[in-house]
Amino acid sequence: MNKKWWHDKVAYQIYPKSFYDSNGDGIGDIPGIISKLDYLQDLGVDILWLSPCYQSPLADQGYDISDYYSIDPRFGTMEDMDRLIAEAKKRDMVVLMDLVVNHCSDEHEWFRKACEDPDGTYGQYFYLRDKKEGELPTNWRSYFGGPVWDDLPGTSKQYLHVFHKKQPDLNWENPKLREEVYQNMNWWLEKGLGGFRIDAIINIKKALPLHSYEPDREDGLCSIHAMLEEATGIGEFLSEMRDRTFRKHDAFSVGEVFNEKPGELPDFIGENGYFSSMFDFNATIFGHSEKGWYDASPITPDDYKNCCFSSQAKVGEIGFLSNIIENHDGPRGVSRYIPEGDCCNKSKKMLAALSFLLRGIPFIYQGQELGMENLPVVSIDEVDDISARNEYQVALEAGLSPEEAIKAISAHSRDNARTPMQWSDEANAGFTTGTPWLPVNPNYTAINAAAQTEDADSVYSFYKELIALRKNPAYKETIVYGALEPVWRERHNLMAYYRKGAPTLLVIGNYQKEPQEVTLPTAYKNVLLNNEKELAENNGTITLQGYQVLVLEMEDSYYE
Ligand code: GLC
Ligand code: CA
Repeated sequence: MNKKWWHDKVAYQIYPKSFYDSNGDGIGDIPGIISKLDYLQDLGVDILWLSPCYQSPLADQGYDISDYYSIDPRFGTMEDMDRLIAEAKKRDMVVLMDLVVNHCSDEHEWFRKACEDPDGTYGQYFYLRDKKEGELPTNWRSYFGGPVWDDLPGTSKQYLHVFHKKQPDLNWENPKLREEVYQNMNWWLEKGLGGFRIDAIINIKKALPLHSYEPDREDGLCSIHAMLEEATGIGEFLSEMRDRTFRKHDAFSVGEVFNEKPGELPDFIGENGYFSSMFDFNATIFGHSEKGWYDASPITPDDYKNCCFSSQAKVGEIGFLSNIIENHDGPRGVSRYIPEGDCCNKSKKMLAALSFLLRGIPFIYQGQELGMENLPVVSIDEVDDISARNEYQVALEAGLSPEEAIKAISAHSRDNARTPMQWSDEANAGFTTGTPWLPVNPNYTAINAAAQTEDADSVYSFYKELIALRKNPAYKETIVYGALEPVWRERHNLMAYYRKGAPTLLVIGNYQKEPQEVTLPTAYKNVLLNNEKELAENNGTITLQGYQVLVLEMEDSYYE
């Protein structure tokens, strides 16, 4: 395997709107991020991925871009952005922007020009179809609910949007559009970006000609997945993008790839893949239902383990997945993956170690390093997330009572991860001196960065140790490149794996509140991490306390 500069890095996702507000308007901003770079450097992260901060009407919180060449004034200026890139560089960090090119905003100049002249150049940047009374061009259901077709203002046509109606899909079949995208990407890369996180990319390839599929709900519409399953040939677009942009700049690229087809992993992230890496969403999507959030099933510790191990088996040494427990699109990892009632510092540290030491590139989402938790929804009026608002309606239509519907969306709402970062126990968690755009989780008095950075026993300090361990020259080669081999795979509520190499490490997590015993296959040499003060061992048999996690360096003899 060819070594790449990103293989041994640790990445951190910033959701700019909720990270740190420097000017008291209640909205996080780029100067705010700059002022927290020392915090991030101290934690040990190398790559910063910024969710979108381009000019945008914020219909989908910035994932609807109206100008790819400018920064939204709410987030700052282009000078701020340049300063962020430079200040990050001084600290040996690189910045990734979010590349949102399946769609733009309906307020983008391209879309306005398409409305003025749908048969002209810009009409071909989108998917437009003649409007027919009482009939839609296709029956696809948008990800955010309702049909994917809306009237193109001032014309007799309709346009396609697989997400919100303010996010018209760009027509990737048009070479001119693709040129525009590559030009913009190179413009950013020339500024000194480290690369991109690539949004919703699987959607850029539509099955042509566009047509309807079997309806899958009462609304007569069908999930976009029906179309995606049929679409082939995305590789032509993605390899062109790679050759024209990333490759020339040795840039890092991480794809938000759902629904790749069986056997396609090497094409995406193999030696000559389209991307450097892609997120592992196996555990994220576990239990999801085509019917909607209300019909989702919970994930148990054994399910979580199986999701991680099956992804690891699938990727093997093909390439590098990017491992997450959360991002801006769902609940907090600790609230999702730790059984109800058991969320505490100890279990949060266990989950941290189990996910962080998997083979791949670890991504930490802002506040994850503090063990930030979900903020339960009380009333639908408080919900900002357009996806959660739609799912609330879906649940009501399925016959749930309003209380049940609230409960159903509460566990999944994207607002859970979007509440402001908890910096201190001061007003508004120290996030802003104004009124935060989204309520702060009231648990900030107990969970905040100021307290945790001072406390050697905090979740934050544990993450810092994990990062330091990954970077420790004695273990780095194993943690970055060593093969992963599950141990005691069938044991209930126990997740354990080897990371093989010289030395071999054994990671063991007791994923329950009751103690449990394990008998080590071979002797260990060192305890590299332990979220308990003690290690109860008797002749090779360890009694793990509830939610205890251990990282052991095994005797060399194991490998002889
Ligand atoms: C991705 C983003 C999500 C956004 C969607 C549309 O899934 O992560 O936040 O709503 O794409 O751009
Ligand atoms: Ca601000």
